[in-house]
Amino acid sequence: MDYATTNDIQEIVEADRKNVWHHLIQHKPFESQIDPRIIVEGKGMRVWDQHGKEHLDAVSGGVWTVNVGYGRERIANAVRDQLVKMNYFAGSAGSIPGAIFSDMLLSKMPGLTRVYYSNSGSEANEKVYKMVRQISHKHHNGKKHKIIYRERDYHGTTITNLAAGGQEERNAQYGPYTPGFVEVPHCLEYHNQYGEGDYTKHSLDAIEAVILREGADTIGAMVLEPVTAGGGVITPPQGYWEGVQALCKKYEILLHIDEVVCGVGRTGTWFGYQQYGIKPDFVTMAKGVASGYAAISCTVTTEEVFDMFKDAEDHMGYFRDISTFGGCTAGPAAAIENMKIIEEENLLSNTTDMGEYLMGKLGELKDKHKCVGQARGKGLFCGLELVSDRETHTPAEEKMVQAVVGNCMAQGIIIGATNRSVPGYNNTLCLSPALISTKDDLDQITSAMDKAITEVFG
Ligand SMILES: Cc1ncc(COP(=O)(O)O)c(C=O)c1O
Repeated sequence: MDYATTNDIQEIVEADRKNVWHHLIQHKPFESQIDPRIIVEGKGMRVWDQHGKEHLDAVSGGVWTVNVGYGRERIANAVRDQLVKMNYFAGSAGSIPGAIFSDMLLSKMPGLTRVYYSNSGSEANEKVYKMVRQISHKHHNGKKHKIIYRERDYHGTTITNLAAGGQEERNAQYGPYTPGFVEVPHCLEYHNQYGEGDYTKHSLDAIEAVILREGADTIGAMVLEPVTAGGGVITPPQGYWEGVQALCKKYEILLHIDEVVCGVGRTGTWFGYQQYGIKPDFVTMAKGVASGYAAISCTVTTEEVFDMFKDAEDHMGYFRDISTFGGCTAGPAAAIENMKIIEEENLLSNTTDMGEYLMGKLGELKDKHKCVGQARGKGLFCGLELVSDRETHTPAEEKMVQAVVGNCMAQGIIIGATNRSVPGYNNTLCLSPALISTKDDLDQITSAMDKAITEVFG
């Protein structure tokens, strides 16, 4: 095949089938039953596949990434101009877009003052773990090195991020994991694990019990998603975050908020933590930072943390870390335009307004269908939990949930579902349409879901 000029899409499909190992998918059916899917083009909220079939994308590129929508020429042009001028230099030096974007970003994050660039969410989180461990060695004789994470949260794909991951089906078979990570229970009240009493208090007591069991002098940090994403779109109960913040203060634990999904507008504020008045010590972000137009992630922290790495007397005392592609200028060049678009098109307020509208529509689905147990979410990040019994909250069978996703796909609407996440709980439909969504887009998405649920569950 002449790769430069071929317009025979079937040749592309065959090359893909023969050579490419896709992410998070079983390949056996590609051998005989179905073709791998190739996404050829995108514009706004819509993408076209190899058959020319149009889809309305309700999950922003499958995994909550393309926040400003497809086909943004101004981002592509900014990246092109930057690449021609200066594409790369190692991150031990600065770059013009890196400096500009850091200033724009920090202006949205009062209390935080330093940005460390790398290129994936997993990597941004790893940077924090390393910083926490180094602080522990430098200031606590290596003792305060453990990191608390939460059941059902996800922080990335590397072995250490799996150690910090609360999703058994993502973790299984990839051990042994990095030691020093300690789990606390999830905070999804719909699946209350405590019985009677105040759920928030139970959740916080459970975290405190883990801190006391391990010894506060062994715990350096706690990593949490502001809204748990792939673990079931879990919005925390009222008062949870105030309590977490108080525990971190009481036991001198650094608070790391993983904004890889919620960051840069997804919930209607710049960051998910800002919905809850949290004051984090670390914030990590990736997906929506440049809406997938270039790879970029950021680890953001306070001057207090940064200062701990400035001991000129100690030749080992600075952060001895590098991310080769953290020095690519395409990422910050794209991120600058991405942020300008969100501001100029008022996409934060659109996200809040459209998020409320979407929750209303999901509420209607709940009223109509017995298999809908709960609708939850924040801004344009929503989940619909499907159950086989509303009284007991028993999860719907995964194959039924996947059938709803497949039915929507056949209708030309791409939605998601919790996938290889928590055993027995891969039963939440996920929606994260671009921040440019209109009522009409959301009507199309929810009416396809209505039809799909009717056809699958009766
Ligand atoms: C909350 C959260 N953190 C981290 C990651 C990892 O990001 P990446 O896939 O860019 O490494 C993800 C990916 O889905 C995520 O959902």
